[in-house]
Amino acid sequence: MYENEYSLIEKKIKNLNLKDSLNFVCEFLQKNIKGYDWVGYYFHNDKNQLVLKTYFGLKTDHTIIPFGKGICGQTAESNMHIIVDDVNDEENYISCNINVKSEIVVPLFSNNKNIGQIDIDSNTIGRFTLDDLKFLKKINILIAKKI
Ligand code: SME
Repeated sequence: MYENEYSLIEKKIKNLNLKDSLNFVCEFLQKNIKGYDWVGYYFHNDKNQLVLKTYFGLKTDHTIIPFGKGICGQTAESNMHIIVDDVNDEENYISCNINVKSEIVVPLFSNNKNIGQIDIDSNTIGRFTLDDLKFLKKINILIAKKI
């Protein structure tokens, strides 16, 4: 799944720097993939925080998230992706807006080190599957080449 979208992204960001690649990926995914309602990249800083670098979708207040807090903060600590089918079932969750129903967070590794993550929110319950995970892992590998 998502083979065409992946090829297009690969081609389009080939000659772009990190910042432009992140912008392209966020905007492309948010506009073209059904149910990807908010798409952003957070990066780690040296204070054990995640900093929102770029996003596409509704404005969010959560531009800095401490490690451990919310779904994003859990991925920062565990180095593991997380798929949440229903955010209402999560205790350690930070709500960006009340429409969000499901979420996927996939860590971004550079030289085997977790340095950030792609975070996608959907207004559809149970939107994310292993196909989405596979697709986003591949995109993160393309992004890591820019670092
Ligand atoms: N829901 C995330 C916070 C980031 S926003 O979705 C943009 C979380 O629980 O970490």
